[in-house]
Amino acid sequence: MEKFIIEQSLNIKGDVYIEGAKNACLPILAAAILSNGETIIKKVPFLSDINVMCSLLEDIGIDIKKDINNKTINIDTKNIYNKEVCYDLVKKIRASFLLAGPLLARFGKVSIQMPGGCAIGVRPIDLHLKGFKALGAEIIQEHGIIEINAKNGLVGTEIYLDFPSVGATENIIMASVLAKGETIISNCATEPEIVDLIEFLNKLGAKIEGAGTETIKIIGVDSLYNCTHTIIPDRIEAGTFLVLSAATRGEINILDVNCEHLKAVTSKLREINIDIEEKDNIIKVFGKNIFKNVDIKTMPYPGFPTDMQPQFMTLMSMIQGTSIINETIFENRFMHVAELGLMGANIKVEGNSAIINGVEKITGSKVKATDLRAGAALIIAGLCAEGISEISDIYHIERGYYNIEEKLKNIGAKIKKIT
Ligand code: EPZ
Repeated sequence: MEKFIIEQSLNIKGDVYIEGAKNACLPILAAAILSNGETIIKKVPFLSDINVMCSLLEDIGIDIKKDINNKTINIDTKNIYNKEVCYDLVKKIRASFLLAGPLLARFGKVSIQMPGGCAIGVRPIDLHLKGFKALGAEIIQEHGIIEINAKNGLVGTEIYLDFPSVGATENIIMASVLAKGETIISNCATEPEIVDLIEFLNKLGAKIEGAGTETIKIIGVDSLYNCTHTIIPDRIEAGTFLVLSAATRGEINILDVNCEHLKAVTSKLREINIDIEEKDNIIKVFGKNIFKNVDIKTMPYPGFPTDMQPQFMTLMSMIQGTSIINETIFENRFMHVAELGLMGANIKVEGNSAIINGVEKITGSKVKATDLRAGAALIIAGLCAEGISEISDIYHIERGYYNIEEKLKNIGAKIKKIT
């Protein structure tokens, strides 16, 4: 298994270029199923999750051409056919379930494995299925397989989401674009990645209004064509480097970001007394001041993002005083607490809250990445800790951070990968 060996690296300095957003690229690749022609996706982060999604598309006859140097994927669906979605690939990534909506819209029938849960929670799909049923599909679930059938096609309707689920919002939008008539989805998620998906679908010829609001209207069309689309910057990769710069008392320029998407993160960092300069698509972070402890409550966008919670926990573990993090999105997203504890952090978990008592310093230790963002939190901890840290199970980290080792080395971090 590969590991990261990290030595304390303070006063990190330099430029970091942000990739396209993984969580925008995944639904957009799934949505390409709806196109009758060729689509070109630019600013693709060639992460393991993206490669699995590409393999899922190839498995149903879609032609995929990857140009890694130019971060571009050419997709051609002319030979697409419907079949049970490949079990081995489906199990690799949660986002595989985003194939359900487009396959249902295009073929009226889907056979796909129940997506497994993962470290951070059960990750149910009841809201996705509620939307498909409301559009007229029949659903049979047995032996871990979900058969979704819309014998008479899908018909537009009104759907209320009990929770603003990102994936359910995306799947129901994709299922609705070829339905007969109009669909209104209320209490949707409003994440920037959903706005990017809607922009891509409208470029293909879909008729979707309300992007970025809690009510989306879709007017069904007969078919979708082709387009070229550039993925939005990854706000979570950018946020991770913001926290890393502050925690290591460094001075990093983060380039190719969308500052609007990071409001909750930058305002929380300013509350901690971290100097941040935003200009066009660049954010400069200075971690030189005395930090103040703050409390955090994760919320759906535009609230504080759950995907930034572990990284902030690392930062807050070294700020004098008591801070509280309340994780309201996932029921099991505190696995990094035990690992940070091995490094000397003083954090207690009570239900879905973590009580953090800041310590003077943390020290290097052997720790394990339990999920994608927890792994990122441990990298930040390793850079701050006295001595040397070893992080195992780094495949989690490489699912969401393209070229992370090289990017860190370029800003002076002492990190190396060993097998
Ligand atoms: C997306 O996951 C992201 N993944 C996650 O990022 C992110 O943490 C999450 O949205 C929340 O922002 C991708 O976009 C690929 P949800 P998703 O449906 O769509 C409950 C990362 O680190 N729920 O908004 O699975 C669910 O259990 C990953 O990049 C239901 O109850 O998130 C959870 O508690 C981690 N029923 C809450 O909603 C459903 O049918 C939020 O889930 C669906 C969800």
